[in-house]
Amino acid sequence: MEITRILKELSTIEEGFLYCGYPDVILHQANVMKIVIETAKILELSEEETFWAAVNARLHDYSKKGWPDIMVWVQKEDPAFTEYHKGLIRYHPAASYAFLINDAKKRLVTTGDPVFEILCDEERLLPIKSHHERYDGVSVKTHPNAHYPGYPGDLSGNDIPLIARMIGGADTYEAIRAGREYRSTGIKDHEDAMEEIIAVSCNEVGPVVASALKHIPKSRLDEICLRTKEEVLQ
Ligand SMILES: [Fe+2]
Ligand SMILES: [Fe+2]
Repeated sequence: MEITRILKELSTIEEGFLYCGYPDVILHQANVMKIVIETAKILELSEEETFWAAVNARLHDYSKKGWPDIMVWVQKEDPAFTEYHKGLIRYHPAASYAFLINDAKKRLVTTGDPVFEILCDEERLLPIKSHHERYDGVSVKTHPNAHYPGYPGDLSGNDIPLIARMIGGADTYEAIRAGREYRSTGIKDHEDAMEEIIAVSCNEVGPVVASALKHIPKSRLDEICLRTKEEVLQ
């Protein structure tokens, strides 16, 4: 099956996001996938590896379609943000992996579409489970009070799959460009976002991915990050 068609068709499994409280995840995942593909070019990954990097990135936050609306607007310091909500964040990589494969198996049976066979590949989709691990091993298990600990805290260093580290780097850059400033406020342009990501990325995603991100042309990152949700949904 032709790769571009597969990547386009993967969006069909995202339709649930249109009706949940977290619709911007569609735009986020689409943008992260494109940044991951650019990272793969810099790292000279094979076509097959690039394809799997793209598939993992496209649906890495899959479980967020089940998140309650409060996750969109509540601040983490707000008393309404409880341990339950913290748990939704902390377990979303493992939940995304499990929900995605479970949904894909059901869709494969009901539709027979081979696209869903791809999403049943438990081995190739493992990077989804570790896209928020930190390269330096600072995690909710080892440093629960760190400002931004990794989770679930099972892996560190090069034990974290390269694809997971690529998603982590793209995720941080995209979140900053989109204005979801969970670390700093008011950062939206490329230069500030890149400065921030370089400052944190060696600890969080490691030197290989940090260096690759630096080499993606600014014009390409602008093209990706300045798209609107409407353009992506077309
Ligand atoms: Fe995530
Ligand atoms: Fe994400």
